[in-house]
Amino acid sequence: MSEADPKAKPVLPFDRIGGREPIARMVNRFYDLMDSEPDFAELRAMHAPDLAPMRESLTDFLTAWMGGPRDWFEKRPGACMMSAHRGLNGMNMEVARQWVVAMHQAAKETIPHDPDFVDSMISAFASMSKGMAANAGRSDNH
Ligand code: HEM
Repeated sequence: MSEADPKAKPVLPFDRIGGREPIARMVNRFYDLMDSEPDFAELRAMHAPDLAPMRESLTDFLTAWMGGPRDWFEKRPGACMMSAHRGLNGMNMEVARQWVVAMHQAAKETIPHDPDFVDSMISAFASMSKGMAANAGRSDNH
């Protein structure tokens, strides 16, 4: 049968990407690019000198976001990624663009066998990043 079974359980993004390891590879490449490419200098400057805690945190966040173990959220009860970001110094559309371009490059390099997955993941990140930059500086809770 060539048609997908409509009753089949959808595959979690976490399983489709292959678990935590490939997520960690993509995240590490993202921070390596951010740390070395002049195009991402403004984005790099917003981050602490030591990127090691971010490598860990973004890997854990994306693991949970893709349907894997939820340790990131369990360690941070009530954490909201969107509100945490809009209060960051220097948040604007240009750094949001840099974030998405760097992550797109990292994803294409580390997940070359699944371009459809990369496209849908990056379009979700683009919406999130745009929302973070559009609401920069707002202090309400929405
Ligand atoms: C609009 C573009 C973005 C910018 C400019 C940005 C910038 C930052 C900065 C400066 C930090 C703090 C870094 C530090 O303390 O060294 C941070 C933390 C973080 N960001 Fe972003 N970010 C962006 C988009 C995103 C997106 C789309 C995601 C998720 C898909 C994300 C996930 C995270 C996570 C998980 C943390 C760590 C939070 C923690 O450990 O408590 N960021 N971001």
